[in-house]
Amino acid sequence: MEVENILHMKKGDGQNSYANNSLLQKSVVTKAKPVLQESIREMYHALKPDCLMIADFGCSSGPNSLLVVSEIIDIIDNERQRMNEKSPKYSVFMNDLPGNDFNAIFKMLPSFYQGLKQDKGSDFGACFISGTPKSFYGRVFPDHFLHIVHSSYSVHWLSQVPKGLESKSEEALNKGNIYIGNTSPQEISKAYYAQFKRDFVLFLRSRAQEMVHDGCMVLTLQGRFQSNDPGSLWDLLGSTLNDMVLEGIIEEEKLDKFNMPFYAPTIQEVSKLVGAEGSFYLNKLKSFTVDWSVDSSQNLENRANFVAKSIRAVTESLLDTTFGAAIMDDLFYRFKIKVKKHLSCKESQYLNIVVSLIKTRANLY
Ligand SMILES: C[S@@+](CC[C@H](N)C(=O)[O-])C[C@H]1O[C@@H](n2cnc3c(N)ncnc32)[C@H](O)[C@@H]1O
Repeated sequence: MEVENILHMKKGDGQNSYANNSLLQKSVVTKAKPVLQESIREMYHALKPDCLMIADFGCSSGPNSLLVVSEIIDIIDNERQRMNEKSPKYSVFMNDLPGNDFNAIFKMLPSFYQGLKQDKGSDFGACFISGTPKSFYGRVFPDHFLHIVHSSYSVHWLSQVPKGLESKSEEALNKGNIYIGNTSPQEISKAYYAQFKRDFVLFLRSRAQEMVHDGCMVLTLQGRFQSNDPGSLWDLLGSTLNDMVLEGIIEEEKLDKFNMPFYAPTIQEVSKLVGAEGSFYLNKLKSFTVDWSVDSSQNLENRANFVAKSIRAVTESLLDTTFGAAIMDDLFYRFKIKVKKHLSCKESQYLNIVVSLIKTRANLY
């Protein structure tokens, strides 16, 4: 599966779009804000650049994209006003894969610029926002270019489904699962971790070359409590697909070959890899949980509907490439029913990891 060419959040502003189904990611951004605030303030005091070079990696489209940009600008603008200093200029780069709906972001820019002018007044420095479509697994920017790097809910996406998941015998190695599941053999979690390690180290190494010394990077990604935790949400999606195989709606062979290009690391795995890569000082590491449905006080039907719609907005591009667009409504209706049953007997939360990294002076790699 060519993840780079296939993966994109559901475009546009329709009822299944990412723009209308990204409240989970918004709540994660909001909960991670204190770490972002502290990290940016520290960087700003250390560097005080005339023009801040800022990049959001995996920005997607919809309300969250510019929410992050305005949060970053607010943090710096409040700080410079508190210190009675001249406003810096801002150059902001929105990065995502080429299939991302960049046009939707660009269309929001005139009103975003207008809002900045009104809120911040005439002494606010200029702000330039542009798009940089390219995989973040590799170089996107020139050397020593960025002061602030941000990425939320993106780095847990792998560049490819781990190699080695294909079976050497007739039977698929990860049969019945689309991720690390209860019945997956040990090799599966090893293969997933190996792919995450390769991708995450490449991400850090690429950013290390692009960032100025003492620049700051805040990454938020989904994690898991222990390395042998199965991904129960993917278990439910896998079991929905299995039901459809049994009913002859999906071909078994297609399901055998399908695995999610996703890995949620443990806190220990993240900190170990940051240390091993060596270009960054681990300034802060926090974790927090968010209910699958964000608001656990809602009734079960609403919660299950919310989960099904948020997962659909994120995974539909991957699933319809393999199984066909025609089955998507049926698949996610069945998935919602399974989620509802699951939530009726089990509280289910995502673990989220936020790391604040500072680019150290020496590149140790
Ligand atoms: C769940 S969305 C998160 C979007 C946004 N940051 C938010 O918080 O709402 C994940 C985004 O990461 C992007 N992404 C995944 N792999 C990527 C890669 N290798 N390079 C650039 N973007 C990538 C996806 O295309 C998607 O838009």
